[in-house]
Amino acid sequence: MNIVLTGFMGTGKSSVGKRLASALDLDFVDTDKLIEEQEGRSISEIFDCEGELYFRSVEERLIKTITSSMNGVVLSTGGGVVISSTNRELLARFGTVITLSAGIDEIIRRLDQTETRPIIADTDVRGSLEKVLGERRDLYATAEFSVVTDGKSIDEVVADILALVKT
Ligand code: S3P
Repeated sequence: MNIVLTGFMGTGKSSVGKRLASALDLDFVDTDKLIEEQEGRSISEIFDCEGELYFRSVEERLIKTITSSMNGVVLSTGGGVVISSTNRELLARFGTVITLSAGIDEIIRRLDQTETRPIIADTDVRGSLEKVLGERRDLYATAEFSVVTDGKSIDEVVADILALVKT
């Protein structure tokens, strides 16, 4: 059994993924964390030094490796993983893909507490979030299930997911 969490930044994929993995006694794998370990630098540094295309190629290679070599995992993915049709196909075959969603206000609140995000312009956070989210909405919707996270605790989101995957 594998579960894949997709969704926009700030929807809680990593924190939900960790708790979901322990609830299901599966391993937890986070693509951004693995990329940072492989590259020996932060995601922001990779974007700054090499650009987005480089990051996307590393991300796609990692998705190929994970989906061909791992089993029994909850996989949290970076928000842009759905851009690649190869990634979408591999992930759909690998496991149950669940997209976490949140409204713009909730995303902004959550991002305030975290580090800077490469694809979001500092000058117009709301505008650039709306633009990127609009571009990706249909791609996130290709997931088998979707869970709204607005106003929910991590445990509540995990409970929603458990109800979906256990039926
Ligand atoms: C990205 C989201 C980030 C990270 C990178 C690009 C995106 O992951 O992969 O900064 O394009 O949406 P999170 O969704 O975990 O923040």
